[in-house]
Amino acid sequence: MKTLLILAASLTIMTFNSQAADLDNGRTLHTNNCLACHTSNMYTSKTRKVHDLAALSARVKRCDFSLGTQWFDEDIADVVAYLNHDYYKFK
Ligand code: HEC
Repeated sequence: MKTLLILAASLTIMTFNSQAADLDNGRTLHTNNCLACHTSNMYTSKTRKVHDLAALSARVKRCDFSLGTQWFDEDIADVVAYLNHDYYKFK
């Protein structure tokens, strides 16, 4: 019975995670893959080119593509959420 309860609880957590963006996953992916060509200073620079969420998402997809990482859509979404949370702060 106890095992069943734990199982049910972890299933609930997993379901919750698949809906909300995982900022920690985004941060880890970004730190491990995305700082080869540019630092994160570019994200807060006055001359940055990304001005909304759609452009941010498109840019992350393009950089993922040129990097050849072939992330899943969920991973792209996590990195976009992380960059927006820590740097861009679009509504
Ligand atoms: C192969 C080199 C390269 C790698 C690796 C790379 N990028 Fe980029 N990235 C660029 C270049 C070049 C630009 C600037 C393009 C421009 O100025 O139009 C850029 C721009 C960006 C911007 C837009 C900054 C702005 O102007 O607001 C974001 C966001 C970004 N990259 C995210 C990422 C992410 C996330 C990753 C990891 C998947 C990544 N980059 C990895 C080359 C790279």
